[in-house]
Amino acid sequence: VDSVVRKDPVAIIGAGAVGTALAHALQAAGVRVIAVASRSRDKAESLAHTLGRAKHLTIADAGAAAPIVLVAVSDSAIEEVAGTVRVSTETLIAHTSGSRTVDSLDAARARGAAVGSLHPLAAIVRARGALDATPEAYASVFRGAAFAIEGEASVYERLAPLALELGGHPFGIAGVSKPLYHLGASMLAAFSAGLAQAAWNQMRAAGASDDVASSGVAHLLRTVANNVGNAMTPAHALTGPVARGDTAGVRRQADAARTLSVEAERLYWAHVAHNIGLARAAGRISGETADAMMRELGT
Ligand SMILES: NC(=O)c1ccc[n+]([C@@H]2O[C@H](COP(=O)([O-])OP(=O)(O)OC[C@H]3O[C@@H](n4cnc5c(N)ncnc54)[C@H](OP(=O)(O)O)[C@@H]3O)[C@@H](O)[C@H]2O)c1
Repeated sequence: VDSVVRKDPVAIIGAGAVGTALAHALQAAGVRVIAVASRSRDKAESLAHTLGRAKHLTIADAGAAAPIVLVAVSDSAIEEVAGTVRVSTETLIAHTSGSRTVDSLDAARARGAAVGSLHPLAAIVRARGALDATPEAYASVFRGAAFAIEGEASVYERLAPLALELGGHPFGIAGVSKPLYHLGASMLAAFSAGLAQAAWNQMRAAGASDDVASSGVAHLLRTVANNVGNAMTPAHALTGPVARGDTAGVRRQADAARTLSVEAERLYWAHVAHNIGLARAAGRISGETADAMMRELGT
């Protein structure tokens, strides 16, 4: 019996962005994905087909198909799925939400299942077409990702190996910590994409093509990501006039933001105020400089 066969097989419920990526990445990592289910039969059938060896089942039957059942459905559908799946006392059922707690799986727990949550800290979008995404592309979504695991110790012990197989970094999280943990993650993912749009618009206005603007902002974000990953804390990787204590530079940028829109100017000042505090706490600028900047800029 080789190690591939010894790993607990999994069933996946929800053939959306996360369910699809997880199914392909787990299979590529040698974890057997033996069943998939979704609200729409077509989606489950098509995912099972591209995986090759998975059966597509009803949501109820998928619960009984494997010892580990991963529920990657919309946050608001978790309770309904937990009430529908057939589970046994051998079943570990875990959802992938970063903001919902394991209590959303109470209906399955009441029928004897162990409950948990496995939240991959990655921004995952649906592939544009089935041919766009290769198993390697799906695997790269999870490689290096932190995985927040909620559940009892015995649940952690069964979910952490899945994160490790995917090349991720598991850590335990209490349900009570999830709203703020998820707020931080969600702000970073959504707002950095929103800021990328602002940068993209100005590159286009300056004459860059769509392609150069898109690859350009993506590259800029990757350099930020690399700097953040290598720094003691993200604040140690701050760049720009605030981190240099350059008050005149901030003023010039604020003037430029004002010509764009009221919204851009507000966004600019909110970030300046936030970053002055961060740069100070990280020792990038002195307390004196920080106070002087705040005073002079009137933030
Ligand atoms: N996207 C991310 O970046 C990300 C990252 C980490 C965690 N998560 C979490 O992962 C989970 C799935 O998110 P997602 O981004 O993959 O969403 P998604 O692409 O919208 O997929 C949601 C899935 O839920 C299924 N679904 C919706 N309502 C249902 C119901 N009433 N009964 C059964 N299935 C139902 C849908 O089925 P059909 O397609 O068959 O209709 C779909 O497959 C969420 O808990 C989310 O918070 C998301």
